[in-house]
Amino acid sequence: MLPEMSGLEVCRNIRKTSNVAIIMLTKKPEPAAFLPIQDEVARLIHLVQDLHQLSLAEVGQLHLKKTNIDIVGLIGTIVNMYEVEASERGIELRLERWSSNLIPLLRVDPNRITQVFVNFITNALSHTPKEGKVMVQIEPLDQEVLVHVRDTGSGIEEEHIPFIFDRFYRADKDRSREHGGMGLGLAIAKEYVEAHKGDITVRSTKVKGTTFTVHLKYREKEMQENIMENIMYIK
Ligand SMILES: Nc1ncnc2c1ncn2[C@@H]1O[C@H](COP(=O)(O)OP(=O)(O)OP(=O)(O)O)[C@@H](O)[C@H]1O
Ligand SMILES: [Mg+2]
Repeated sequence: MLPEMSGLEVCRNIRKTSNVAIIMLTKKPEPAAFLPIQDEVARLIHLVQDLHQLSLAEVGQLHLKKTNIDIVGLIGTIVNMYEVEASERGIELRLERWSSNLIPLLRVDPNRITQVFVNFITNALSHTPKEGKVMVQIEPLDQEVLVHVRDTGSGIEEEHIPFIFDRFYRADKDRSREHGGMGLGLAIAKEYVEAHKGDITVRSTKVKGTTFTVHLKYREKEMQENIMENIMYIK
């Protein structure tokens, strides 16, 4: 799907929402009747903001507010946020530490990195059937931390994999915009991870499930800073 086509789609949705509001106004409705319009406007604002961030990222202008982050704590908080949704869907959502290795603090923008994992976890939950599993695993290596988001869901056909990180691309059979998302979540995840000089890999088997892995590298400077912070903390 071409970005321009979806730009048109955004305009069409704005026009549709505005027409609905105008028709409603002529009928002197109850205030509550405006709630769906408010939801739709909020969704469109969110969409335009996402597109703006993607455009900034594409030209290397994405603003990152980096701080030293305990990645295990951050991922733990995100997983907790989705526990209720997972249990309502009858899916087991679990966070696993690979080993007991201490992981140095990472210098990342916590809001952007949260967005990345929210996108992977919401995708995993919406493509995994009842009684399935979504596991988030943190694997510390020498030079980088890997964070895997694994699901036992529908999987992705091989032919779609090269395109799933493209804007507005949706691999599902029912690709109409009436159902599901806009196809922006993975494009955003990719841009945000690359802005941190990391990368994403994906493995998927139809029916068995999908694993997205985010590679976040430690940098020499970060390791030095972490060591200094630990020394100061011990003092
Ligand atoms: N864990 C997954 N299992 C199966 N298919 C997936 C998974 N994650 C992504 N996909 C496929 O990749 C497509 C692109 O994902 P992406 O997150 O970019 O868009 P979306 O979820 O459809 O919409 P949005 O994230 O904008 O709400 C999805 O439409 C889906 O077909
Ligand atoms: Mg998504």
